[in-house]
Amino acid sequence: MNSKRKVSKRGGVLAGQCALVTGAGRGIGRAVVLALAGAGAKVALLARSEDQLDGVAAEVRSSGGEAVTHPCDVACEGEIVAGVAECQRQLGRVDILVNNAGVFLDKPIAEITLADWDRVLRVNATAPFLFCRAVLPHMREQGGGRIVNIASTSGVQGYVGQAAYCASKHALLGFSRCLALEAKPSNIHVYTLCPGGVRTDFIAGTFLSKRLEGQPMIEPENMGDMVVFLVSQPPNVDIAEVVVRRFSTA
Ligand SMILES: NC(=O)c1ccc[n+]([C@@H]2O[C@H](COP(=O)([O-])OP(=O)(O)OC[C@H]3O[C@@H](n4cnc5c(N)ncnc54)[C@H](OP(=O)(O)O)[C@@H]3O)[C@@H](O)[C@H]2O)c1
Repeated sequence: MNSKRKVSKRGGVLAGQCALVTGAGRGIGRAVVLALAGAGAKVALLARSEDQLDGVAAEVRSSGGEAVTHPCDVACEGEIVAGVAECQRQLGRVDILVNNAGVFLDKPIAEITLADWDRVLRVNATAPFLFCRAVLPHMREQGGGRIVNIASTSGVQGYVGQAAYCASKHALLGFSRCLALEAKPSNIHVYTLCPGGVRTDFIAGTFLSKRLEGQPMIEPENMGDMVVFLVSQPPNVDIAEVVVRRFSTA
C-alpha cells in the first residue's frame, strides 16, 4: 500500500517533537515514519539501505515534513552510538525513539547455527538495548521522552520454527519491562508493540509466508497509526504493552 499522508503545516499532535526510527526504509518502519511526520514530528531515519531511506525521506519532504537519514547497521555498536549522536545533532533533540529494525528466522532448532542465533539476537534484542542506552541521557536531560520497542506476538508466545526469533522478541519484551521501571522516574514512557502478521516483505520466502498466503493481514499503516496513538497519550496515561493480531473470521 502506498499511502500519502499530508503533513499538517500548522502543527499536529507531535509538532515540535523529534523522532528517531530504526528500520525506516520499508515495511512497518516506513509507515511509522510517515505517520509520525504526518502528526508533525521531525524524523530521523536509520537502516542500512540508503536508497530506501532516501525514498522515504523524499516522501516525507514532499508532504511538507522534515526528515534526515543516516545509514546504520544496527548489528554494530559503534554505528549505533555514532548514528544516535549524529541524528541528535541534526534534529537538535530526540523525543521519540522507535526501535523497529528486525530480522526474521524460520528454521527448526536443530538447523539453527550459532551464527544465525547471534545475528537474530543481536539485531532484534541487543540493538534496541544499545539504542535505548544511547538516548536515555538525552531524554533525561530534556525532562522526558517516549520509547517504542517493536516486538511481536513472537515475544508473548512460541511458534514452531521460530526459536531464535521468539527468543529475541521475548528478550526485547523483558528488557522493555525493566527499562519502563528504570526510566519512569525520568518521565520516560516505554511501550512495547507486539504485532503478528503485518503485510510487509519481512517473512517473504519462508514457511510462514506460505501459511499466511491469501489471509487477511494487518497493514503497515495500522502500525504507524498505533505508534502515533501511543506516543501522543497524555503523560498521566501508562500503556505498557499492546498485542495486535490479525482479525480473521476464518
Ligand atoms: N511483518 C510482520 O508480520 C511483523 C510481525 C511482528 C513483528 N514485526 C517486527 O516489525 C519490525 C519491522 O518489520 P517489517 O515487517 O517492517 O520488516 P521489513 O519490511 O523487512 O523491514 C525491516 C527493516 O529493518 C531494517 N534492518 C534489518 N536489519 C538491519 C540491520 N542490521 N541494521 C539496520 N537496519 C536493519 C531493514 O533495513 P535494511 O535491510 O536496509 O538495513 C528494514 O528497514 C521488525 O522488528 C519485526 O520483527 C513484523
